[in-house]
Amino acid sequence: MLSGSKAMKITVKTIRDKKKKKERITVLTAYDFPFARILDEQEMDVILVGDSLGMVVLGYESTVPVTMRHMLHHTQAVTRAVKKSLVVADMPFGSYAAPDKSVRNALRLIKEAGADAVKVEGGKTVEAQIRKMIGSGIAVMGHLGMTPQTAGQLGGYRVQGRIKQQADALMRDALLLDRLGVFAIVLECVPAALARKITRVVKCPTIGIGAGPSTDGQVLVLYDMLGVKSSVKPRFVRAYANLERTVKKAVRHYKEDVLGGKFPSKEESF
Ligand code: KIV
Repeated sequence: MLSGSKAMKITVKTIRDKKKKKERITVLTAYDFPFARILDEQEMDVILVGDSLGMVVLGYESTVPVTMRHMLHHTQAVTRAVKKSLVVADMPFGSYAAPDKSVRNALRLIKEAGADAVKVEGGKTVEAQIRKMIGSGIAVMGHLGMTPQTAGQLGGYRVQGRIKQQADALMRDALLLDRLGVFAIVLECVPAALARKITRVVKCPTIGIGAGPSTDGQVLVLYDMLGVKSSVKPRFVRAYANLERTVKKAVRHYKEDVLGGKFPSKEESF
């Protein structure tokens, strides 16, 4: 039925069309109901339930320990809040190790958690999985460059594609994903010139994070751009707020009021 807010829901076609219309695509991560509601109300095109949640909200040192259970739990919280944005759920490490397994797990994220699409990391190495998922009617977003789930094999969290051999491999992977039919590709920590070249040659939109200004869209981890400090702040992050300072101040103020008998007041009591 095409009526009311349902008609305005962003689809993978909307995202693909934006590239044709040369409209930039906005993406942020969210992991819970309140922030997903805010992002949706601010008309973010895509809300990514990234497996970065493992590091950002669960306190793990990498995204590797993230499980399907974590992803289902957080994606459900996000989709309960979202009316318009396209919700993409990350497939956690190990959940797409084989084609059949990838379809089974992607369908869980879509049917049980309400995601509109899933994201997987890698190119040639996950060709069979992506082919099978797209062949099963699942919308897939790719992720190339610095792929956190396999950061160990890439020599850590570092820029990928600086040397020619690496850049050629990245270009081949991007063209492959495009041919397979992913609806967009995240390019993470890639030199700006290479990201621009890839963006020009692929039909699907590219979404950059640490990939310069020429990609079709941009994504940041929500807590990074809100200024909730973690131990490392990558160079590509711009903090649009200092939530760490705001929250600390509020907590200190509350504590002082409780200790000083200033909270609650008469008006705040029954
Ligand atoms: O997990 C995540 O948040 C991501 C983005 C950094 C693209 O994959």
